[in-house]
Amino acid sequence: MAVSDFVSTRGNGNGSLNGSHNGNASAQELIDLIVEHASRPMEEAQALPAEYYTSHALYDLEVERIFKRDWLYVCRTDEVADPGDWYASEIVGQPFVLVRGKDMQIRAFSRVCPHRFMDILREDREEGREHGHAESFVCPYHSWAFDTEGAMTGAPLMNRSARFERELDSYSLSSYATEVWNGFVFVNFDPDAEPLGPRFTELDEVLAPYRLEEWKVLDRLDWPEVPATWKLAMDNGRECYHHQGAHKESIEPLWPAHLVDADTTDSEYFYYHRMFVSAEGAIGEEDGHYLQPVVLPALEGLTPYQRSHSLLVGVYPTMWFSPGPDVLLVAKWWPTGPDSHKFDLAVCIHESRLDHPDLEKIRAETKEWLHQIQLEDARMVTGIQSMLGSDRAKQRGGALSHLERPMWTFQKYMAKRLAGVDV
Ligand code: FES
Ligand SMILES: [Fe+2]
Repeated sequence: MAVSDFVSTRGNGNGSLNGSHNGNASAQELIDLIVEHASRPMEEAQALPAEYYTSHALYDLEVERIFKRDWLYVCRTDEVADPGDWYASEIVGQPFVLVRGKDMQIRAFSRVCPHRFMDILREDREEGREHGHAESFVCPYHSWAFDTEGAMTGAPLMNRSARFERELDSYSLSSYATEVWNGFVFVNFDPDAEPLGPRFTELDEVLAPYRLEEWKVLDRLDWPEVPATWKLAMDNGRECYHHQGAHKESIEPLWPAHLVDADTTDSEYFYYHRMFVSAEGAIGEEDGHYLQPVVLPALEGLTPYQRSHSLLVGVYPTMWFSPGPDVLLVAKWWPTGPDSHKFDLAVCIHESRLDHPDLEKIRAETKEWLHQIQLEDARMVTGIQSMLGSDRAKQRGGALSHLERPMWTFQKYMAKRLAGVDV
């Protein structure tokens, strides 16, 4: 497209919110706009305007129709490896805990005590503990106790309550659906949730060589709350187009944007990219493929082609992971409100590498590198967030590059979740 073509199309209002320049588009207007954007071919794909990111009314619908209804990745199975191991978190006002039971099943429970709503893990959460081990859970308020399968096992001084005796069976911790896929644990707050696994048939084939259930968490990068909407952070995480800007000195020399293959799937549930190493960044060549640098020996069984790139996989709404030859990165961006989110990242390695002699050094160096990348990303998303109040940002977004394909397929996901429309 020539510059003159661009100039001639400026300001034509294409894709803007008609009549909403006062910044008060209704949630329905925004949903209509999402559906309209999502219905186009990729060549016509366009970023949504600012109110898609800033509308609190739209966020309220996302809470109800996405976060309380769809599967959410929480942690890896090895983070709740043994019976009694727990992992606690909260999203959209729903505090919950994942627990491995004596039968080795991983279950999810509400942390809200069925007596008078105390957080059964209040003390741990106050002290910032996300993980732990418990033989049972005892509510810190009046000491009602629950076993690792959620059943109530004791409630002191309740013997004079006829109601308590009558309702005894209803005082288990409320449970939520969980599912494990490739070593990733997901939770779903919807009691009628459809199973998760069948969504991934296509992806399972792509991931099979990596044997992902065998990888263990080596380290975690916990990041302070970022003052930007989860949608900006996820958009950023879903495209490699920004390597040449935001990461021009860190990622771009090794994995340049122009070598990324983003044109892989039409799935409405996930995307995946192949991020190939540059000739300059390669550590060698085998069978015509440049090999990407590794900090640990590459996983046995991977072909030279598979060792020439990292996969970048996103599962909507908020999960991202990247299997490479030696390291698996797993991230999630969870909203903490309409204008803020929490990011965390797990660094995983194959279980056969856990006794590598240089592990401590590798852990420290990897963390430093990832810290730098996250700093660069957080700078971008908070920078954009600060622009969203401007009249210009409310008018319309720009065309999307083929490398931003997941932003377009995510529009389809949003159209389906928010409006029930298949586009
Ligand atoms: S609130 Fe938990 S025992 Fe009373
Ligand atoms: Fe980035």
